[in-house]
Amino acid sequence: MKVLVTGGAGSLGRRVVRALAGEGHAARVMSRREPAQSAPAGVEWARAGLVTGEGVGAAVEGVEVVIHAASDPRRAEAVDVEGTRRLTASARAAGVSHLVYISIVGVDEIPLGYYRRKLAAERIIESSGVPHSVLRATQFHTLVDFLLAKAARVPLLMPLPTDIKFQSVDETEVAARLAACAGAGPRGRLPDFGGPSVRTLGEMARDWKRARGVGKRVVHLPIPGAVARAFRAGKNTAPGGERGLTSWEEWLARRGRAGGF
Ligand SMILES: NC(=O)c1ccc[n+]([C@@H]2O[C@H](COP(=O)([O-])OP(=O)(O)OC[C@H]3O[C@@H](n4cnc5c(N)ncnc54)[C@H](OP(=O)(O)O)[C@@H]3O)[C@@H](O)[C@H]2O)c1
Repeated sequence: MKVLVTGGAGSLGRRVVRALAGEGHAARVMSRREPAQSAPAGVEWARAGLVTGEGVGAAVEGVEVVIHAASDPRRAEAVDVEGTRRLTASARAAGVSHLVYISIVGVDEIPLGYYRRKLAAERIIESSGVPHSVLRATQFHTLVDFLLAKAARVPLLMPLPTDIKFQSVDETEVAARLAACAGAGPRGRLPDFGGPSVRTLGEMARDWKRARGVGKRVVHLPIPGAVARAFRAGKNTAPGGERGLTSWEEWLARRGRAGGF
């Protein structure tokens, strides 16, 4: 089966492309960039932009499935909302038989601007007329790693909202699930997918400091407002959903580096 991966040169998308090859599918990457030298042999490359719309029609031509992983939190209205509208219109016109969308657990409960746009994208897909599957995943281990590395750059101390919760997941496992969905046919909203356990950021910071050899003291940074309250309440977690296998500690031990394709 031929599968277009929007955002296929991104962090999750690269892993989806590798996973598709493992499932015996042919992948086509959609990207605004020049073809990556490191892309695996046989991977097609479609240059296209979801904001301009340039190349999108050609990118979806001749594919059976689209895995939609392109996103830009800083331009979410243009990329995630209007870009998804453009993509679904082109997919419908091209007769795509299945569109798989990666969303985030809690987009309907956490009042973040980016999450509101992801929810809007889900709704656009659901009403697009294109047969679809929507997978909501929890935050990736790489995101928590990024947040902690950023806090560690503050001089002397590591200020963190230690009481917010994550159920972070290995994005390679999310990619594998998306690739498996491609072959399984449209199933609408799929069970949420998260990491093996729900932890506080304070607990995760302890593991991170040990793994990274960082000696800085973590200090609790109280964050007011509805978004922090939702993360404290674990609205971004899915303990009743399906779970990946790689824990935060195991991922840290492997350092979670993905490299190129
Ligand atoms: N990170 C997390 O914790 C997490 C958790 C759950 C779900 N997700 C979802 O997973 C998806 C992938 O995230 P990621 O971490 O892999 O992001 P990423 O590395 O930033 O990749 C996003 C990709 O989007 C593409 N893109 C951005 N603007 C575009 C535009 N105007 N036209 C076409 N493509 C555009 C970029 O492609 P080019 O630059 O190659 O054009 C880029 O490769 C997102 O939908 C995100 O919401 C993430």
